[in-house]
Amino acid sequence: MDILTFLGLLSSLIGSGASVQSDYLKFPQGFSIGTASSSYQVEGAWNASDKGVSVWDWFTHEKNEFIIDGSNGDVACDTYHKYKEDVQIMKNIGLKHYRFSLSWTRILPNGFPNKISQDGLQYYKDLIDELRSNGIEPFVTIYHWDHPEFMNRFGSWTNALMVKWFAEYARVVFRELGPRVKFWTTINEPNNYCEQSSGGKSQAPGMDLAFSGSYLCLHNLLKAHARAYHIYNEEFRATQNGKIGIVMPCRHNFPKYENDTEAARIAFEFDCGWAANPIFSKNGDYPAVMKQRIKENSQLEGLPFSRLPEFSPYWINLIRGSSDYFGLNHYTSKMVESVPRKRGTPWYQESGVRVFVNESWPESPTNWLRVVPEGLGGVLRDVKEAYGNPPVYILENGVSSYPGVADYNRIEFLYGYMKSMLLAMNRDGCNVKVYTVWSLLDNFEWDRGYTERFGLIEVDFTHPNRTRTPRLSTGWLKKIIAKGRLIAFNNTELSVNYRAFNMCTGN
Ligand code: NOJ
Repeated sequence: MDILTFLGLLSSLIGSGASVQSDYLKFPQGFSIGTASSSYQVEGAWNASDKGVSVWDWFTHEKNEFIIDGSNGDVACDTYHKYKEDVQIMKNIGLKHYRFSLSWTRILPNGFPNKISQDGLQYYKDLIDELRSNGIEPFVTIYHWDHPEFMNRFGSWTNALMVKWFAEYARVVFRELGPRVKFWTTINEPNNYCEQSSGGKSQAPGMDLAFSGSYLCLHNLLKAHARAYHIYNEEFRATQNGKIGIVMPCRHNFPKYENDTEAARIAFEFDCGWAANPIFSKNGDYPAVMKQRIKENSQLEGLPFSRLPEFSPYWINLIRGSSDYFGLNHYTSKMVESVPRKRGTPWYQESGVRVFVNESWPESPTNWLRVVPEGLGGVLRDVKEAYGNPPVYILENGVSSYPGVADYNRIEFLYGYMKSMLLAMNRDGCNVKVYTVWSLLDNFEWDRGYTERFGLIEVDFTHPNRTRTPRLSTGWLKKIIAKGRLIAFNNTELSVNYRAFNMCTGN
């Protein structure tokens, strides 16, 4: 998009803001704005010291036909060596927290606690100390999809033994890193991950087992999460005094026909509720509508059981309430419409709801990511209503940009989504405490390799130094953090800020 088109769009945004009370655009006292990353996507150093092989090392080395540019995370952004530079960049923007994940095989090279890598632990201790001494709070995700490769040969998350294996790994990280950490996230995006890795083949290990594979995977992930939560509660919380939760990717659903609110409700349950209902609802367990529709579909296929596994009362109780906050990753929204069901036929796509995009929603460089700012406010209100207004930590929100550092589309995206979030908070009472931009740096975007750029900072992946260059959005973000309120983009001021920023970082 050229600058004139961008300014035009922005002034319409500002124009629509004229009716918004100016207090609504303030960030409340104590509100934290930060950025996020994940180990495989940024660290590199894939075989440094005694690190074991992860499922993503294996996938990118052995099955790189699934990665659009045939690339891998062997070096990625090389944050393993360059974390100090990154911490200075964050400090300069004024970011208050940094969400990163631990690589399971960097800490436990065999996957199990019979061998603990002191070098691996030291890397994370150093990173955490560097963040803390620069006034940035570490938010640590224990698992962002890169489990040990050999577990893959045992069926990955379709194998119930993963629950125990994950719990033992979590116990080690609480013990070793817990004294330095106040915010834990057990698992990143369990539902999307299961659909893509066990149900489909776009995420490692790419099992392609359709609905049944996804259901089994999520069933085990939820149990693993609950086990880790209770280990923290019983063995570490009293001395470490942190918070622990899980992060869900939830979209907002706009009904095609205004009165089809049932379609929006059911779509929410099959998307967000699938993983969230067992943890955050009053009664726990999967959403009733999922249980009913999948059971009926299974019966129509002649199965003597439902393809959606059942939780015993023991597990329902253990999982229910096992999160101190509602972690939310949000990028985009969908349109939905109920599909009439013919007698004796399965529900359409399990849910009976057709999910599609509104072609008038602006596109982004990422094909699944249409820009729908009002959807963030929408999903915050959905979560408030469904789960009694829990504290929400937005742990990912962002968009990819076009090549170069003039990321006007990112500024526009962040402005629109933050405005929608602030209205949901300040006008509608949604209890949001944390907002996190995905991502600090351009990084390895899974099956899209390095072709999609989600960073506030551009990374030159062709240069051995992985040179970092701040994009325009960093100047804007710096300004809104300093002011404590959302402000629209002003091109002249931004250029001045941007130059000042680059002088500080030496770029
Ligand atoms: C969510 C995932 O957690 C993250 O790994 C990914 O890069 C972003 N979405 C963008 O696709």
